[in-house]
Formats: sequence, structure tokens, C-alpha cells
Amino acid sequence: MKILIVGSGGREHALGWKLAQSPLASDLISAPGNPGLAELGRTVAIKAEAPAELAAFAMRERVDLVVIGPEAAAAAGLADSLAKVGVPCFGPSQAAAELEASKSFMKDFCARHGVPTAGYKVFDDAIRAKAYLGEREPPFVIKADGLAGGKGVVLAETRREADAAVDQILFLKKFGTAGQRIVIEDFLPGEEASFFALCDGETAVPLVAAQDHKRAYDGDKGPNTGGMGAYSPAPVFTDLVRDQTMERIILPTMAGMKAEGRPFVGVLFAGLMISADGPKLIEFNVRFGDPECQTLMRRLKSDLAPVLLAAAKGELANAPPLEWDERPAVTVVYAAKGYPDEPLTGSVIRGVERAQRFEGVEVFHAGTRLDEDGTLRAAGGRVLNITAIGDNLGDAVHRAYTAIAAIDWPGGFCRRDIGWRALER
Ligand code: AMP
Ligand code: GLY
Repeated sequence: MKILIVGSGGREHALGWKLAQSPLASDLISAPGNPGLAELGRTVAIKAEAPAELAAFAMRERVDLVVIGPEAAAAAGLADSLAKVGVPCFGPSQAAAELEASKSFMKDFCARHGVPTAGYKVFDDAIRAKAYLGEREPPFVIKADGLAGGKGVVLAETRREADAAVDQILFLKKFGTAGQRIVIEDFLPGEEASFFALCDGETAVPLVAAQDHKRAYDGDKGPNTGGMGAYSPAPVFTDLVRDQTMERIILPTMAGMKAEGRPFVGVLFAGLMISADGPKLIEFNVRFGDPECQTLMRRLKSDLAPVLLAAAKGELANAPPLEWDERPAVTVVYAAKGYPDEPLTGSVIRGVERAQRFEGVEVFHAGTRLDEDGTLRAAGGRVLNITAIGDNLGDAVHRAYTAIAAIDWPGGFCRRDIGWRALER
């Protein structure tokens, strides 16, 4: 199999690392890829958001399977372009990607199909939105409708903050057209978990769950980020919760999307709030979580390639079962100083090979570049993902931080408490 991975982050490096181990994979190409992916195969300089170019490339190269990493590629219509030229694709069509690309679509869809999620109202008018806030109790949850790079959600403790968020999104267009509408939601109490299912339009196969740390600093303080670390399994996500999630959320969504003429193919990522009365959906994403994916790939024992191909072809019901390592895995994100607001790029990173040699450790590249003379430099906010598996979570965490100590990167920082919630249990 010739496999093309689309994207350039730690998630894509982890997927590539796993797929490269498949006896079926003869050739691994990534677009645009990163220095980690470049060690596994060819990279081509085509952006993830360029569906026509990617489809032309995949056809010319006779690619057997395209794996879409980021939501932007799916939302740009990559799966649709590939379908036109007959290249199998693991990833959703533009219409199916609406589950993530439009929060109002997602909320209305859940209402139509009885999927448990927070109560909500959609507004395009700031005055009406603020009047509605006046009838409610804090904390207020305000979301830009469209894709805002994980920054479009405001949890406000006071009316003043909530009003300011409404003005910033609807009046000042902080998120451009992604903020033409807002969703105001009920606040859901509980503990969060990320759950993933592989889908072929009809069948859904549950993966395992993970939890991530969204805040930039220790103790879950500081600004929200795409995720500073993750671990899997998620202790809060028991077998009972998994069955409830499949039955109440994933399967009705699969059936509803098919019935509405937008069958979902790819990985459905349910961001969940787990409380005493079971899981409630916070949001859908139409891709793997980053850095959750890195922990999943570290724990997956069986071959991923035939399963993704089966999903792409609508044959998931006949795919071989997935086998998981019982041991937990953790990912610590090593970010550039200044992340998330203004990450300082260009600083030199040394010692990645040294870190890589620790048992159970993989270092995935998320935002790096390689100079011609072989110098590795930071080229993004989240730069490296140090992923480790261990006999228990404490052991995995210890291995990850031991590997980090072997990396010489004065320009970087990481949280020192990844996994604390699960360790405290
Ligand atoms: P989202 O981008 O929709 O995942 O929201 C970002 C974060 O905001 C989530 O991971 C939750 O921590 C929090 N959040 C979003 N919606 C709610 C809600 N309705 N109730 C409580 N917390 C929420
Ligand atoms: N880590 C959360 C996400 O990928 O959206």
C-alpha cells in the first residue's frame, strides 16, 4: 500500500509512525509533513488545505489510501476531491465535516437525533444575545459558530465578561466569518474525556478514550491551548460509559448523518463531559485529537493500515479487530516559550535522538524544521510530543519526563504535571 498522510503536526507523525510499521505499507508519503515524518518517507510540499492539488498528486502517484489529519483539510473538501478521482480516503466529506466546522449545525443535528448535549440557542445579533444572557445564570458558555482554531469558546463567570465575548465575536469579528453566529450553551458540570470511533459511513468501531490538559500552565492554569499533554486510558471513561457513549451518541450520529445524506467516514472524536447521569457531548471533532492521538497510537498493538483502508471503503464491519496495550501511555507537549499567544520560533533543539533511545519513548515532531546543516529548530507553538508507555501511569509519566530531561532546548517549556488528575485517583 502506498499511503499519503495529509498534515504536518504531532498527530500526523504519530499516525505515520504507526502506519509505517504495517507490513502492508510499502510507501509512506506526507503532505506537507514535518522532519519526523520525513524520516519515515517522502514529503511533498502541498498544503493540507489544497484539495485539488492533493487529489491530482494522489492520482498521479497511484496512492492506495489517503489519511486526513487536520479538520481544515476535511472542511476544504479533500475527501470530495479524492472521491472524484477514485482514491480511497480515510476522512470525512465537506458535508460530514460540518459536525465540527459549524457548531450550530452540530447542535441542531443533536437536537434532531436525540443526542445528549448542553441546551443551547443560536444568535447572529449581539443585542438579542445579551438580552438572553440577562435571563441566565453564570457560568456562561459562548462559542463562535465556525472553526476558530480551538480559541472560539469563552467560559465567562460574569455578565461583563460574557457581554464582552459576544461583542468581540459578533461586532468586532475577532474570528472573522467563523463568528458570524454564536452559540450560547448551558454549562455542563463533570469531568472531560475524549473518545474516538472509526467510521465508514455505516459502521462505527470504538477506539479507546484519552484525556488532555487544555491549559498552558501547571495546575490547569493559564490560557487555553490545543492541548499540553494527554494520557490514555481515561480512568473516568469506564466500560459502562463507553457503552453509553456508543449507544447514545456515536451510533445515533452515524445513523443520522447517513439519513441526512452526509454519511460520516473517518474518525469521530466526541469531546465528552462525564457526570453521574452519563456522558454528554460537548463537541464533535472530525479528526483525531492532538495530542490524544499520540497516546492512542502508542497503545495500539494491531495493524492500523487495513482498518483505515476498510473504513475508507465502507467495509469496516469486516475489518480485523483492534488490539490495545493494556498499559497506559502519556504525551507531554514541549512547546515554544510564549505559546499559545506568541510562540518564539527559530530556537535550536538538541538531543532528540538521545531522548528517543529511552525504552517505551517516542518523540513526535509537531512544529519543527530542519536546516540544511541538520540543525533542528522550533517552527511552531507546540513543537515536540514526548510520548511514553509504562507499566502504570506514574511509570509512563516518569519515562516521558526522563526523556525530556535529555533534550537540550532552552527555548521550550512543558507542563510538569501531565496526568495529575488520573494519578490523584
Ligand atoms: P470546545 O472547543 O467546544 O471543546 O470547548 C472548549 C472547552 O470549553 C471544552 O473542552 C470544555 O472544557 C469547555 N466547555 C465547552 N462547552 C462547555 C459546556 N457546555 N459546559 C462546560 N464546559 C464547556
Ligand atoms: N486536544 C484537543 C483537540 O485536538 O481538539
